[in-house]
Amino acid sequence: MSSKSILLIIGGGIAAYKSLELIRELSRRGIRSRCIVTRAGQEFVTPLSVSALSGEKCFTDLFSLDDEAEMGHIQLSRSTDLVVVCPATADLLAKAAGGHANDLASTTLMATDKPVLMVPAMNVRMWQHAATQRNVETLRNDGVTVMDPDEGAMACGEFGPGRLPEVLTIADEIEHQLSAKSGPKPLEGKHVLITAGPTREPLDPVRYLSNHSSGKQGYAIAGALAALGARVSLVSGPVAIPVPRGCDLVSVETARDMLKACEEALPADVFISVAAVADWRPAISASQKLKFKDEGKTLPTLSLSENPDILATISHKRKKRPELVIGFAAETHDVEDHAVAKMKRKGCDWIVANDVSGDVMGGANNEVALVTGDGVERWPLMDKESVARRLATRIVDKIGAADASQLAAE
Ligand code: CTP
Repeated sequence: MSSKSILLIIGGGIAAYKSLELIRELSRRGIRSRCIVTRAGQEFVTPLSVSALSGEKCFTDLFSLDDEAEMGHIQLSRSTDLVVVCPATADLLAKAAGGHANDLASTTLMATDKPVLMVPAMNVRMWQHAATQRNVETLRNDGVTVMDPDEGAMACGEFGPGRLPEVLTIADEIEHQLSAKSGPKPLEGKHVLITAGPTREPLDPVRYLSNHSSGKQGYAIAGALAALGARVSLVSGPVAIPVPRGCDLVSVETARDMLKACEEALPADVFISVAAVADWRPAISASQKLKFKDEGKTLPTLSLSENPDILATISHKRKKRPELVIGFAAETHDVEDHAVAKMKRKGCDWIVANDVSGDVMGGANNEVALVTGDGVERWPLMDKESVARRLATRIVDKIGAADASQLAAE
């Protein structure tokens, strides 16, 4: 349990009522919330209910003599571990991006020396408006974390991005920010080896067999673990996304190169096999471009050879087997049954089962179940960053916590 606290700024939007659920969820996780409700926010939730749920005085007014005497707004902005704006309306994002300071919420955001997390929620058109997107970019460049809103049906009857993310996802992000930005990091001293992306199996110098993996999920996991202090070796097939901060990239093409790079990167404390490794490669890879249209040639037959199974190889190592080996199971049907069977067959400790029947490969979202020796945990549909953070939190629980408390004691 954490003994951290946040300063929660509740903006004026229909999603404001969810901030009440957030306060409860955080309190379940041992995180205290001190709250500011903006003038517009008070149209949706009352300071009394916020105060009753948080167990703390709720602040509303910049020019309140009583509040200033008790706790000035500067002190309010600093006596916290993290400032969270939820819901962050288009107006609050604009004020923060523009550096306005004309009410308690905006003044606090200007005065704080703590990390800031914004959780936007607004009408889809307002979210997509060039001004809002400009403000979000400015805030991100200023070092503020701005979560992406969820997509779906909105209270106003429209459809698209702009919904407040799930309360559990916001709470995960807050927990992640609190552990990533403070004190000794829970995975300091740990080495994590991750594979990501597709492999490419050449047929000749211009053709190859591959798949649609974008690398997004593996890269998100690598970034989440690096943020928690782990040394991350990211062995990746060809992808078109940036390398997350703090990760050491080893670029490979084929499954055999990927296995070789992984073996060279051992020993590691954790191995996570996210790559969509091609199971087969052309039996012969020609050194010159194959010609199919020469006169008299019949249609060629493609002979295949089996690629090494990287996850199974690392799982079954007698020497240098990582303490925790995690696989992914990409399935289109009977997802959990296949995942459990795959975990046994490959010898890994956990497996993340994902349903790839939709637009998961290359898409932004993922609905997964975590299968461990203790059973199956179904997670709701989340963006890939959120899946990464939740998995990172589980990894910290499994291998990081004891060492982190030792670090703290040193
Ligand atoms: N994997 C691997 N090496 C391979 C094939 C897969 O390391 N040659 C890993 C993947 O990174 C993933 C897990 O094994 O962690 C399961 O991959 P998946 O594609 O779901 O399963 P396959 O082993 O390919 O089995 P099938 O295609 O029959 O579902």
